[in-house]
Amino acid sequence: MSPIIRAATAGDVEHIVRVEKDCFPDPWSEASISRILGTPSGAIWVAERKPQGILGYAITTSVSDEGEIERIGVAPACRRAGVGTSLLRSALDRLIQAGVKVVWLEVRRSNEPALRLYEREGFELVRVRKGYYPPGEDALILRKLLVPEPAC
Ligand SMILES: CC(C)(COP(=O)(O)OP(=O)(O)OC[C@H]1O[C@@H](n2cnc3c(N)ncnc32)[C@H](O)[C@@H]1OP(=O)(O)O)[C@@H](O)C(=O)NCCC(=O)NCCS
Repeated sequence: MSPIIRAATAGDVEHIVRVEKDCFPDPWSEASISRILGTPSGAIWVAERKPQGILGYAITTSVSDEGEIERIGVAPACRRAGVGTSLLRSALDRLIQAGVKVVWLEVRRSNEPALRLYEREGFELVRVRKGYYPPGEDALILRKLLVPEPAC
């Protein structure tokens, strides 16, 4: 059965952190995630399936008409089943509703699963930050326009 995608609540934070620890070498703390949840510019989406619980999450921020995908993570055992795609699409839909016109994100050059996901969902490479991630891996800056650029 497909997981449901819903907005996170304060009660989800500890479960999000558990998945976060399985996804990133530099996991965000409960305090960092709670802070985002508590600000009007932040939004967190979770994928949940009963009885397992939280399978993945997507964290976004936005200011005016610009948004950012801050984090997206899916528990290792639940990957490659469309959960990341569903989370990303839900996050983008919400950003569109909030008036966001362009979304940015940053990803390691070696992160092929994430790069494939983002490219498939219409993100394009706009810049490279050379050696940004220790010990010297490039960061790729990707962008997706949520409304067409005006013609000249
Ligand atoms: C990136 C991530 C969120 C993808 O989640 P997911 O639930 O596996 O994604 P989906 O099943 O929706 O996959 C969507 C597409 O992404 C690509 N993809 C996902 N995993 C892939 C892999 N291991 N290798 C190659 N392509 C992959 C494929 O194009 C896939 O479509 P397909 O399965 O039809 O071929 C997940 O791998 C993850 O949590 N990684 C660790 C955290 C991370 O790196 N987050 C991104 C930081 S910028």
